[in-house]
Amino acid sequence: MQFIDLKSQQVRIREDIEARIQKVLDHGQYILGPEIKEMEEMLASYVGVKHCVGASSGTDTLLIALLALGIGPGDEVITVPYTWISTAEMIALVGAKPVFVDIEESTMNMNASLLESAITDKTKAIMPVGIYGQTSDMKEICGISERHGSIPIIEDAAQSFGATHHGKKSCALSEIGSTSFFPSKPLGCYGDGGALFTDDDEIAEIMRQIRVHGQMKKHHHPRLGINGRLDSIQAAIVMAKMAIFDEEILKRQAVAEAYNARLDRDDITLPEVAPHNTSVYAQYTILCEDRDSVQSALKQAEIPAVPYYAVPLHLQPVFNDLGYVKGDFPVTEMVSDRCLSLPMNPYLSEEEIDRVCQAVLN
Ligand SMILES: Cc1ncc(COP(=O)(O)O)c(C=O)c1O
Repeated sequence: MQFIDLKSQQVRIREDIEARIQKVLDHGQYILGPEIKEMEEMLASYVGVKHCVGASSGTDTLLIALLALGIGPGDEVITVPYTWISTAEMIALVGAKPVFVDIEESTMNMNASLLESAITDKTKAIMPVGIYGQTSDMKEICGISERHGSIPIIEDAAQSFGATHHGKKSCALSEIGSTSFFPSKPLGCYGDGGALFTDDDEIAEIMRQIRVHGQMKKHHHPRLGINGRLDSIQAAIVMAKMAIFDEEILKRQAVAEAYNARLDRDDITLPEVAPHNTSVYAQYTILCEDRDSVQSALKQAEIPAVPYYAVPLHLQPVFNDLGYVKGDFPVTEMVSDRCLSLPMNPYLSEEEIDRVCQAVLN
């Protein structure tokens, strides 16, 4: 059984993928070719914002967003310690200080009620993450930002692209939305890729410049940027996958419901989707009181499972200088000790789901 099954998906859309790749081979514009604009228009319209800017990865999109907001040394950016490292890594890489607030146990996303006390006059952005496929309480977070002079919010939607919050799509909920097309993401390509979303014309233009070495037009660089360009072939693959993306989200939700129905036991905490949210289930993650024994039962049954994220960011050596210690974020630490992500993809069969659940409940 595969943790993430990209083969079954490919079989469905292989013809379209091949035709689109062939087109790129024919025109030969391999980087920032016509597919980029086409994909950007497709995704901007899907999300419901004015601008989409395709870029080289979901890490580079965070970097581009931070640079576009002019964030650097002396600034603070509030985020969560329970996320993939890129989120806090890019804050530190631009020279700013990541400031962590704990998560809530139910959604495992930023606990908005703790946000206000973390805001200082150095706070230049808030970076909530949509962990496992559903957004943070963006409405609440936006409200808090407004009460504090409209602190810009960068939504790290690498895992939540396609999800909704109060009926609006993830990536359309704040100044900037950022996502990843890493192959295992719900909307992935066949390499590295990502995209930024905004309704702000000026921010969009700045992000476009930063994506190409701060270039405004040929031979003119008014600002510093990076090589953050997206390959045409990757954009072609994203577009082919968009044709079945919504259907795949429904299939993921059905797999999650099947897991929920079978795994309902006292020593297992099932993932909870907030009432105003939908989830794309980038991961289906349970909390187990005795993770070691569940993991070994799964291993014995040759079922892949991964504890995302077993070590939270405030306890990663690279962030020692921030001065956090064990005990600072009790919910994050409890979740890190118990989390286990089970196989999740739209093509899991009932039999496979049964096999996973039998091993978990062993
Ligand atoms: C929450 C989060 N942020 C950022 C990233 C970075 O995306 P990428 O791998 O495309 O650089 C990921 C990818 O795993 C992620 O899960």
